[in-house]
Amino acid sequence: MCGIVGYIGNEQAAPVILDGLSKLEYRGYDSAGMAIFDGAKLNIVKTAGRLKALEDLTHDGATMPGNVGIGHTRWATHGQPTDANAHPHYNSSETIALVHNGIIENFQALKNKLISHGYEFQSQTDTEVLVQLLDYYYKGNPLEAITKVMHRVEGAYALGIIFADHPDEIFAVRKDSPLIVGRSDNAAYIASDVPAILKYTRDVYYIDNSEVVCLKAGELRFYTADEEEISKESTHIEWDAESVAKGGYEHFMMKEMYEQPKAVRETFEKHLSGDDIIIEELNMTDDEIKNLRKIHIVACGTAYHAGMAAKYVIEEMARISVELDMASEFRYRNPIIEPGALVIVISQSGETADTLQALRDSKTRGAKVLGIVNVVGSAIAREADSVMYTWAGPEIAVASTKAYSAQLIALYLLAMKFAHVRGTVSEEEYKSLLIDLRRLPEQIELLLGNKEKIQRFANRYIVAKSIFFIGRGLDYSLSMEGSLKLKEISYLHSEAYAAGELKHGPISLIENGTLVMAALTQDNLYKKTVSNIVEVRARGAFVLALTNNTHTDIEDNADYVIYIPTTSHYFTNSLAIIPLQLFAYYIAVGKGCDVDKPRNLAKSVTVE
Ligand code: AGP
Repeated sequence: MCGIVGYIGNEQAAPVILDGLSKLEYRGYDSAGMAIFDGAKLNIVKTAGRLKALEDLTHDGATMPGNVGIGHTRWATHGQPTDANAHPHYNSSETIALVHNGIIENFQALKNKLISHGYEFQSQTDTEVLVQLLDYYYKGNPLEAITKVMHRVEGAYALGIIFADHPDEIFAVRKDSPLIVGRSDNAAYIASDVPAILKYTRDVYYIDNSEVVCLKAGELRFYTADEEEISKESTHIEWDAESVAKGGYEHFMMKEMYEQPKAVRETFEKHLSGDDIIIEELNMTDDEIKNLRKIHIVACGTAYHAGMAAKYVIEEMARISVELDMASEFRYRNPIIEPGALVIVISQSGETADTLQALRDSKTRGAKVLGIVNVVGSAIAREADSVMYTWAGPEIAVASTKAYSAQLIALYLLAMKFAHVRGTVSEEEYKSLLIDLRRLPEQIELLLGNKEKIQRFANRYIVAKSIFFIGRGLDYSLSMEGSLKLKEISYLHSEAYAAGELKHGPISLIENGTLVMAALTQDNLYKKTVSNIVEVRARGAFVLALTNNTHTDIEDNADYVIYIPTTSHYFTNSLAIIPLQLFAYYIAVGKGCDVDKPRNLAKSVTVE
């Protein structure tokens, strides 16, 4: 996690860096800092707290003159979020400044060695070891010192470095943590992610593992870890600066919920041609699809919940067995991956460390890996055998909404493609699925239009201590996602349970007034879940039922009802998630929480 930005050019660097960091705060926001070369020396200002604290401290950058600088917004791994642990870090003579995103695994051994050579440390971070090690190797040639450090350190890193005696250059390097660079006529930029520099350029260079870049105003030079110069192609970014701004919404999360119809439409339109589903990225012949016996889906958090929905859909629709894993579990459980199995990894950021490692392990075991990824050019997108992009556009709020919706669509398309080729759906059923799929955007809009009703309901539960989400089958996967959304942004405790499991223990937690959000979108399971509703109401629960508009009889059994429009039973998550996202949002707003940047979290989880 953590965000880094660097600037070298004719402008004053500090305001450019602060502006870039403001676009990266989603990556971490417990402390921030900048190092700027003022023409004579490197000055560092850093502080615990949000970026706002750094902006106030430097009067929006005005108190830090100079045209060359690096900045950082942190998500603490080693050491508390204090001023001392904030980045940038210096060597002791204050001639080298460095910012880091990632984790140095062998930092303690390196630190001990450096201490034995007389080095003193000011912070508890793993990062400070890097700058002291650079100092140790530095004999006037930055590239040489950097590559020596690269050969000594183990772990993940994206670095921005300034040497006071090379004030017209910034150096950047990465291994397993993201880093891009860009340039304009008289300037050059480094950043952890595109939004930070989108204002200045839409042509960016993705730095590959173990590559080093030397940036001068208007000039970029790329090197291997053996100091050989190489050339690189730039990638043109389709998004514009507007897509990473709030655009009049109070929070990115609300804006992104409203972008769901577009995200859904764009994701299916990329793959539909009349009645044909074309997924070239899959790179599988019809015979290979017919012979497919096993799919593994691996992901984390919300992406895992999209995968959970896909398991139900693919197994029932295409009759292929799907094994689902959280990436953090998959990588350590020695999974059995048969030859010919397809592994699907799902990730919005394309950076999640556990998912990336699961991908690598799967490839090592001979599996073909398909990535369903939102961020173009991200690590997972580059390392997967093939990539199916979700077209949600940049997602800034930590709570994932539109990426989930787009992931569901990509997974439905895969399921429908498989089912059509394998003949497990009739032609008539297939066509009706296509009609329902194409209707989803307008149905999502309809649900979003009903947000005041959810807001009024949410206002009554701001003081709740705990909330239950229950459902069966696809509704269970929906409940998992609804519960995660609520927890992460409102800090309100909630549990998601398969409705049939309640009686095996958790029902003892139900007492007078406990709110139970029950999802009943699957006709074949409707009566079963109604029985579970009856059971919790008998113990005092207040039940909100989320069901199809055909089930008006639910009003006899629930205290409050939200209806979703009619769609295929496979696609209900795409609709039923909208009220749950809105509910989480309004509870968080009502409690005064920082909706877009919830405590302890970061958007990209690049640590294990
Ligand atoms: C979702 O709201 C979360 N903040 C989180 O669970 C997220 O989905 C998870 O960290 C996976 O991220 P990825 O999709 O970028 O891999």
